[in-house]
Amino acid sequence: MVICPDHQAIARAVAEEIVDYIQGQKEKGERAVLGLATGSTPIGVYGELIAQHKMGISFSHVVTFNLDEYFPMSPQSRQSYHRYMEEHLFDHLDIPKEQIFIPRGDIAPEDVGEHCRWYEDQIKKAGGIGIQILGIGRTGHIGFNEPGSLPDTRTRSIRLDEMTRKDAGADFFGEENVPLEAVTMGVGTILGARRIILIATGEHKAHIIRRSVEGDIKPQVVASYLQQHSNAVIYVDPSASGELLSAICNHF
Ligand code: PGA
Repeated sequence: MVICPDHQAIARAVAEEIVDYIQGQKEKGERAVLGLATGSTPIGVYGELIAQHKMGISFSHVVTFNLDEYFPMSPQSRQSYHRYMEEHLFDHLDIPKEQIFIPRGDIAPEDVGEHCRWYEDQIKKAGGIGIQILGIGRTGHIGFNEPGSLPDTRTRSIRLDEMTRKDAGADFFGEENVPLEAVTMGVGTILGARRIILIATGEHKAHIIRRSVEGDIKPQVVASYLQQHSNAVIYVDPSASGELLSAICNHF
């Protein structure tokens, strides 16, 4: 657990780690494989990565896998995570299009299972995820793995929790317009990453951060599974760390 003074400080620290990783991979002549998140949380990190690219860092050997997409959802739609990623990151970097993977929300329901197996295969073929970036929902979800998700789940379709749909309501001009389902990497897929960085900022995340970090490991709090990962770190601001009882943190 690392407590930073604010969102921007977290963004800088996380972007620095990502850039170190992708440069290290480049020196070894290997691809860098990033697992990417959407929502308001990673926007600062993406801004920092874009700034690094403008200063000359190349991302041409980077392969990316996004956590999730709403279902159904057209990639051109304003609320799609495809569109989000283009606007906040991909339009500003030099990652070749064929190295970018995002679960699809625009396929027939009967094809989703096959698509999910294909997605898992692509992650395997890329050599697994080097660094996975995560936000956390107030339900404790990582990706869209809502309460009840088991630790060995793989990429699949899932029904969104009511609280998640409520939180997304503003983006959709009303909760009733939020899709009922999503396609998400599974908990097992996420835990397979060699390094996991979860970011949480704001008072509204304080309760779920405490349950995830200090509570029992259980399917009702999916982010609690991260306690079992040997190389996971959580970056929080003072507000999101506000309910923690223990002092297991590094202050930066
Ligand atoms: P947020 O969403 O970054 O918009 O808070 C996080 C999440 O639901 O995973």
